[in-house]
Amino acid sequence: TKTTVSVLKADVGSVSGHGVAHEALIQICKDALAKAKEESILKDFYVTRCGDDIDLIMTHTNGEDNEEVHKTAFDAFMAATEKARELKLYGAGQDLLSDTFSGNIKGMGPGVAEMEFKERPSDPVIVYCCDKTEPGAFNLPLYKIFADPFNTAGLVIDPSLHDGFKFEVFDVMEHRKVILNAPEESYDLLALLGSTGRYVIKRIFKKNGEIAASVSTERLNLMAGQYVGKDDPAAIVRAQSGFPAAGEVIEPFAFPHLVGGWMRGSHNGPLMPTSQKEANPIRFDGPPRIIGLGFQVANATLIGPVDLFDDPAFDNTRNRAADIADYMRRHGPFEPHRLPSEEMEYTSLPGVLTKLEERFEKMDE
Ligand code: 13P
Ligand code: 13P
Ligand code: MG
Ligand code: MG
Ligand code: MG
Ligand code: MG
Repeated sequence: TKTTVSVLKADVGSVSGHGVAHEALIQICKDALAKAKEESILKDFYVTRCGDDIDLIMTHTNGEDNEEVHKTAFDAFMAATEKARELKLYGAGQDLLSDTFSGNIKGMGPGVAEMEFKERPSDPVIVYCCDKTEPGAFNLPLYKIFADPFNTAGLVIDPSLHDGFKFEVFDVMEHRKVILNAPEESYDLLALLGSTGRYVIKRIFKKNGEIAASVSTERLNLMAGQYVGKDDPAAIVRAQSGFPAAGEVIEPFAFPHLVGGWMRGSHNGPLMPTSQKEANPIRFDGPPRIIGLGFQVANATLIGPVDLFDDPAFDNTRNRAADIADYMRRHGPFEPHRLPSEEMEYTSLPGVLTKLEERFEKMDE
């Protein structure tokens, strides 16, 4: 039988604005998943949070897009929302677009990253969870992990990686997708992936079709007929024995690259890797955060995790990210700190333009 790892995530309310998911909400989610484990819907689970987003990491043997598993997550988020309303937490139920479950969680708000695979004799799996950014934040690090030999030594020196990987890329504006091969088409691939607000990596496969990585992109679907834009993403990546080594999967996050998100989902800032405990985006609602959890998947149970960025080797990265945050903040409301107007989650620009319409004067040619 095959094992499925499902990461379903949502922001259902937080303390002090969009800061931190309340412990009571996390406990409610843990209790709900424990019950689903007793009922044999799940084999195992681990609940964490990054900032105001709660991430349900679940293992089972029901495959992807499974109704019972998705309902379990949806009900957990609903129960947590109820508590968030009672505590008057900020953004209670923020990511639940609907209050009834209709078979599949896609299109209902929560983000989903899932993968089904036949377990190897030993199967290291790494889960990343972010806050104050968008799925395109994974484009650069996932490209480096699976296509850049200056990051991943194995692409050059390990015969089991030498063939490269296939990238499934979503065009979130036109609602279509394309599969590109690396290294053969890496320049075409980079031409797309550089546009992080439009083209996002959804999945990566070995050339033989085996799944290697999966990213949550659900809210990028057109929902309720409207482009809903960003969501704080999660990703699952397999490591070792035919995949990049765990250390190669972690290495790109030593560079705090600029990502869209931060304050009001409308600013570029450095992606800061932290421990679970320090995943508190407070300064200007950020800077954007990522946590990494290292598991071994064994008979559909989760061994671990290791809190991957709880490591002094990432102190320099965090210090650099803090310096970059200072530098970017000095731009105030100017691009490229502020996102271009079409990528902002909030904007007063149409109103300002309407107000000023009459005062604009036509200029001579
Ligand atoms: P081991 O020799 O400990 O298995 O490590 C190999 C490896 O992949 C290190 O990156
Ligand atoms: P979240 O997407 O994490 O809820 O943040 C929204 C926001 O506006 C932060 O300033
Ligand atoms: Mg929030
Ligand atoms: Mg969030
Ligand atoms: Mg957000
Ligand atoms: Mg969010």
